[in-house]
Amino acid sequence: MAVQALRSCGTYVRLLSNNAPVSFVHSRNVAWWPNVEMGPPDAILGVTEAFKRDTNPNKINLGVGAYRDDNGKPYVLPSVLKAEKAILEANMDKEYAGITGVPDFTKAAAELAFGADSPVLKNSLNCTTQGISGTGSLRIGASFFAKWYSKSKDFWIPTPSWGNHTPIFKHAGLQVKPYRYYDPSTCGFDFKGAMEDISKMPEGSVIVLHACAHNPTGVDPKKEQWTEMSKVIKDKKLFPFFDMAYQGFASGDIDRDAFAVRQFVADGHQVALAQSFAKNMGLYGERAGAFTVTCDSVDEASRVMSQIKILIRPMYSNPPVHGARIAAKILNTPDLRSQWLKEVKGMADRIIMMRTQLRDGLAKEGSTKNWQHITDQIGMFCFTGLKPDQVEKLTKDFSVYLTKDGRISVAGLSSKNVGYLAKAMHEVTK
Ligand SMILES: Cc1ncc(COP(=O)(O)O)c(C=O)c1O
Repeated sequence: MAVQALRSCGTYVRLLSNNAPVSFVHSRNVAWWPNVEMGPPDAILGVTEAFKRDTNPNKINLGVGAYRDDNGKPYVLPSVLKAEKAILEANMDKEYAGITGVPDFTKAAAELAFGADSPVLKNSLNCTTQGISGTGSLRIGASFFAKWYSKSKDFWIPTPSWGNHTPIFKHAGLQVKPYRYYDPSTCGFDFKGAMEDISKMPEGSVIVLHACAHNPTGVDPKKEQWTEMSKVIKDKKLFPFFDMAYQGFASGDIDRDAFAVRQFVADGHQVALAQSFAKNMGLYGERAGAFTVTCDSVDEASRVMSQIKILIRPMYSNPPVHGARIAAKILNTPDLRSQWLKEVKGMADRIIMMRTQLRDGLAKEGSTKNWQHITDQIGMFCFTGLKPDQVEKLTKDFSVYLTKDGRISVAGLSSKNVGYLAKAMHEVTK
C-alpha cells in the first residue's frame, strides 16, 4: 500500500494514497505490555513533587539528601570549579576509560578511605574499581558477591537502612536480612540489640555497615562500640561490607569518618567498601564512586579484579570520566586537596550548627521534650522521632516536607528557616 509521510503541526502523519490517515492504534494486532503494573513513586522524589506543588512561601523541603548553602541553594564547591578549570585547560581527550575507570582516581579514592600509609595499599592487596557513584559501586559489589562469594547469600542490613540497600542487593540475587540498629526509645544506637543480632548471624554471612553518618538515622556507633563490633564480627567469621557515602561529611574530618573502615582493616578483617563522592565533593550528578575488596595476596587481588571487569563490561562497559577526573585532580593536587578539606569541613560544620540552632529553637518555643538526639546524631540526616501523624501535620499545616519516617535532611535547613521549623515541630509535638 502506498504511504506517504507529511509533517503537520510538528508531528508526522502517515497518509494512505487516498489521503486517509492510518490509525496506528488499530493497525496493531498484539498488546505487548498489558501485564506492566503501575509502580509506586519513589518515596523521596514523591516528597519533592508535593513540595513543588505547594504555594506557601514558607515551605521547606527536608526530604532530599543533598547539601544546600545557607540560602537554600545547591553548592558547587570552589575546589571543584578550580579542578574543572584545570581539566578544561589541559585539553584532555574524551576517549573511553578502561573498564575499571580512571587509575589516578581509583588510587586516590582507596588512599582516602584506607589512609595513604595503609599496609593493604602499600602491599597492593586492594582491588579497587571505579563505580557509578555510591549506588553503582554497591551494585558492582553486590554482583561480585552474588557470583563469587560462596559462603552465604545473606546480606544483613541495619534496621532501618538506606532505602536503596534492599533493592540493590536483591536485584543481584542476594537475600537481605535485618539486624537491630536504631532504638526509637532513645533515638540512638541500639548497641545491645545490634551485638545480640550480630552474634546470632550464621558464619560466613555478610554484614552491611554504614561507615559513618548512618542514613536515615544519623546514629553512628562510638569508637569503642565499633571496636567491639569488629571483634565479634571477626570471631563469628562474618564478612564486613562497608558503605561509605559520607566520608568527611559527618564530622568534617575525613580521617575521623574513616575510623571504622581503618579499624576493621587493622583488626585483620578483609573488607568490601563502596565509596561515593556525591556528598563530600558535591559531585551528585557526576556519579564518581569506587568499589574495593581487600584481598589476602596480590594474586588474589588480581583474580578478583579480573572477575570484576567481566561483571562490569556487559553492564556499562566503562564508567564516565569527568567526575572521576575532578575528584582525582582535587585529591592529587596538594593545594586543591587542602582547600577541599576546608570546604568539606565547612559543609559539615554548617550542618552541625543547624542541629544546634534547631534544638535551641525548640527550647525557645517552650518545648519540654528531650531533643538531645538532634545534636547527638551526625551527618546529613536527623531522625527526629516524629510519628507519622505528626509528620503529616507538619506537612499539611506548615508546608514542611519530609519522609514519613520522620527523617529530615539537616542540610536543607538555613539560618532563615530553622526558627520556622522549630516552631512547627513544637506545634505538632506539644
Ligand atoms: C547510605 C548511602 N549509600 C549510598 C548512597 C549512594 O549515593 P550516590 O549513588 O548518589 O553516590 C547514598 C546516597 O544517598 C546513601 O545515603
